[in-house]
Parts: sequence; C-alpha cells; structure tokens
Amino acid sequence: MESWEEKLSKWFNSYCNSFKGLTDEQRRDFDIKRDHSIRVANFSVQLADKLGFSVEEQKLAYFVGLFHDVGRFRQLKEFNTFNDAKSVDHAKYSVEVLNENGLFEKFEMEDVGLIITAIQNHNKLQLPGKLTENELKFAKLIRDADKIDILKVLTEYYSTRNGVANHTLTWELPKGSSVSKTVAKEILDEKLVSKKNVLSEIDVKIMQMSWVYDLNYRFSFEHLLKNRFLETIYNTLPKNDLVIEIYRNVKVYSENIIYNR
Ligand SMILES: [Fe+2]
Repeated sequence: MESWEEKLSKWFNSYCNSFKGLTDEQRRDFDIKRDHSIRVANFSVQLADKLGFSVEEQKLAYFVGLFHDVGRFRQLKEFNTFNDAKSVDHAKYSVEVLNENGLFEKFEMEDVGLIITAIQNHNKLQLPGKLTENELKFAKLIRDADKIDILKVLTEYYSTRNGVANHTLTWELPKGSSVSKTVAKEILDEKLVSKKNVLSEIDVKIMQMSWVYDLNYRFSFEHLLKNRFLETIYNTLPKNDLVIEIYRNVKVYSENIIYNR
C-alpha cells in the first residue's frame, strides 16, 4: 500500500514535470525548488515530531512543507523570475495551485484553514498579529523549516563554491565591500534584515544571519548550531569590527535560546 506521503510526493513530482518547454536554466531552477520542497517537508515532520505534534498534525506539517513553494513553478514559467517584487507573491500562487488541483478536498475545513495560513505567511517579513494558537503552530513551523533548509543549501554553496554562480542564492548582486548601514542597524537591533535594504552579497549574508531573530523553535536553533551555519557564513565575510560584532550577537543570541528555553 502506498503511504500518504508517497502519494503526495508522486503528485508533486508529476506536477513539476508537467511544465513543458523550459529552458535548461529554468529546468535547473525547477530541480532546485523541487529538492528544497522535499527536504523542507521531511524536516517539517522531524520538527513536528520533536514538538510533540500528533500523527495527524505531522501529516499536515508534511503537506505544508511539500507545497509551500509549489507556486514557484508557475511563477518561473510565467514570469521567468523568482523575484516576487517583479512578478507575483509566490505564496499566494502556491495556495491557488493547490486549490485549482483539488488538493484541499480530502481535508476538513479547519485543516484547510491551517494549511492556507501557514503557506500564505511563510514568506512574509512577519506573521500577522491575529493568528490563533493552532495557526501559529504551523505558520511558525514552516518558517523555521524553510529557513533551516535555505541555510543548509547556502552554507554548502559558500563552503564548496566552485565559481559557478547560483543566482537563486546570490540574487545577482554586486559583491560589495562592507555591510550597508541600514542592514547593520537592523541586525544590531535584533531585527530581521528586510530584503529591500540588501544591496550586495555581503548584505545577503548578513540578512541570512539575521534569520536567527525569526526562528521560533528551540530544535531549529540546535540544528543551526550543530551544523555551524552561522560560522560558515561568517567565515566567508571580510573581517572587521562591525562584522565581528554582528556575528558575536547572533551566536550569543542563539546559544542563549538553547540554554534558557
Ligand atoms: Fe517560499
């Protein structure tokens, strides 16, 4: 008997493969997003298990993880970019794709609400203020799982960089020589760095470090520290007082969460 997860991942793969006439570059970007989604789904279940979610809730976590970015494929096909500001909100597209393909039909109304809220808010700077406890549970979970996987991919890329630029990771920005002022201010204020202030590859890395201020669960911090994500990013940055201060802050913040939570 095919498991629920197998059925879903089968549907997911055939949906990815249903897009025809892609360029080689688009095909590569599709593969990157497909692999990311599968890893996020698996990490979401791991996280949900650690958090003591029920089996049914773990299924929802898997579903949200697998499909949070499913709108990316249509976005790339229609607009040839992953840049939401230049195209559409990909999270909104993800919900539309699921709805149009009848993927919500097997769920209770309440669960559909949880899924939609989690997916729709996974890419926003902040979660909206008025979420219920249950909505928050899943919305926080996908935000953590998504960030942890991006950090994994990025740090692998930074440490094995072979000259082939991956624009889905660097956004084709100039290398830069120092941290931009507004970016430095945001991270030193223990805030997420907003994409609009990011001007160089150095800023991108600082923004990635600032994600610690938006991780929700202790297990995510454990994973982050165990895999040395922060060090790996720091090691690729030019060393100066500001960079050292930023690194020290994010590291101490993360360690404190593990020891105090
Ligand atoms: Fe996303």
